[in-house]
Amino acid sequence: MKAGKHRLLPLNLIGLLASGLGGLIVGALLVSSFSAASTSFAFFKPDAAHPQTTPMQLKAILHYATSKVVPQQSLAEIRLSFDVLVSIAPCNFLVYGLGHDSLMWASFNPRGTTLFLEEDPSWVIGILKNAPSLYARPVKYPTRLSQASSLLSTYKSEPACLPGNASLRGNNRCKLALSDLPREVYDKEWDVIMIDAPRGYFEDAPGRMGVIYSAAVMARARKKSGVTHVFLHDANRRVEKAYAEEFLCKKYLVQGAGRLWHFEIPPALSNDLHAATFC
Ligand SMILES: C[S@@+](CC[C@H](N)C(=O)[O-])C[C@H]1O[C@@H](n2cnc3c(N)ncnc32)[C@H](O)[C@@H]1O
Repeated sequence: MKAGKHRLLPLNLIGLLASGLGGLIVGALLVSSFSAASTSFAFFKPDAAHPQTTPMQLKAILHYATSKVVPQQSLAEIRLSFDVLVSIAPCNFLVYGLGHDSLMWASFNPRGTTLFLEEDPSWVIGILKNAPSLYARPVKYPTRLSQASSLLSTYKSEPACLPGNASLRGNNRCKLALSDLPREVYDKEWDVIMIDAPRGYFEDAPGRMGVIYSAAVMARARKKSGVTHVFLHDANRRVEKAYAEEFLCKKYLVQGAGRLWHFEIPPALSNDLHAATFC
């Protein structure tokens, strides 16, 4: 657990969840009043064009309405990714870290794919006991936070790490590449990536070096139209900040709140493939 612990903000969170659901209800009322104008006794009935609330969203409301433990991110931080998810869901949403925020993230992406990657297998079991419908996989990280400076200063001497050659699956030569993630991570293009793990606040922790590098590689390899949204939490910390500046790039930083940075990273152009740096 990082410093800061959990704050008691259930009403704020419920407000955010409810604002998503509120949109559905307001839309329903509007459609209902329009149809009532043309056919006197018509009323709104949900159909494919006016989707219903998902079971995940209902579970999230029940959970956060009855729990005193809420996500670590502040309302202002959550709001950044909430706004993006509301505008592009259903989408492919990759979340590094399982926690008290997981039900919330999954319910912000109704009918999309939200995959959680978690370093601690017992924490996966604990979280899934209460929320079995979450899609989560345990992962192992090969780095230690204590290696952060040397990995950053030496990666350019390994050709397999350079922007033009960078790949993830099976790329054992580049120590920053997450080369052994579950297959389904490589089989999808991720529209939104939330980096709030692994732990990076003590020397033996894995640190977020590989995750930040790999998010940049995934975003640059995007074939679908549009950008990849990358959210990085704890961007105030030395390692997160240095790696974000090296791989996610200041020019792609579009907004921030509290300790959260939001990057919009476009796919690499063919002439970028020969670039010596990621930015
Ligand atoms: C910064 S935390 C992520 C916390 C999450 N964003 C939340 O709001 O609950 C990063 C990692 O800490 C661990 N962790 C989070 N909450 C924990 C808890 N209550 N007890 C033990 N480990 C926890 C998990 O391994 C998680 O991936």
